[in-house]
Amino acid sequence: MRQSLVIANWKLNGDLELVNFMVSALASESYTADVVICPPAPYLSALQQRTQNTELAVGGQNCSSFQQGAYTGEISASMLKEVGCEYVLVGHSERRSLFAEDDQVVASKLVAAQEAGLTAVLCVGESLTQREAGQTMSVVKQQLLSALQNADLNRLVVAYEPVWAIGTGMTASPEQAQEVHQEIRALLATIDAQQAQKISLLYGGSVKADNAEIIFAQEDIDGGLIGGASLVAEQFRAICSAV
Ligand code: G3H
Repeated sequence: MRQSLVIANWKLNGDLELVNFMVSALASESYTADVVICPPAPYLSALQQRTQNTELAVGGQNCSSFQQGAYTGEISASMLKEVGCEYVLVGHSERRSLFAEDDQVVASKLVAAQEAGLTAVLCVGESLTQREAGQTMSVVKQQLLSALQNADLNRLVVAYEPVWAIGTGMTASPEQAQEVHQEIRALLATIDAQQAQKISLLYGGSVKADNAEIIFAQEDIDGGLIGGASLVAEQFRAICSAV
């Protein structure tokens, strides 16, 4: 049986007050799913301290492909590990589109993350134009396989996030999401059939308390990567409980 997982991606939102508030709001309940919070990097240490003795885990939103050196502004995967992260997002569509991360950069970040002992959460997904052109599966396949060339499938989670569903209130239907997740698992099976059955696949894109349950009920969907709704305690708690 696969581990279910819900990841909060705060993006460029939140403050120390939200760290304290969210940990108090979430830690009082227990969940079937593993629950991970990815705050902005300056709050990682505070979050790690607040989540000690809770079941909540901590993750980074991004890491450098470099380990160390003259790379101003970068944060290495081993630094994330040292301040208590277990996970890091890699290849989020906002990194790809706004910060020009191509498949090669994503692949090297993924390896850097895994070498540091983190579980990499590889994000893939098509734009609206690509979906309308019937390119969803080819885009997802390209993003997935190029990122996994030197990957360790034991330290991997894949998040399917259709770009058109991120922050828009437009969610993929459960059937649309399941179709792509099933394809992702089949692609993973071409690399390692046994391991493909064990990798948690998450859906992301306008998941809210009222649609989480039906999305998470799909056979190949093992949880979610949550943006906006992860900033609202009642919403996020309900999503974590929906797995
Ligand atoms: O990382 C999270 C995703 O980008 C989804 O964001 O839940 O605000 O649509 P959203």
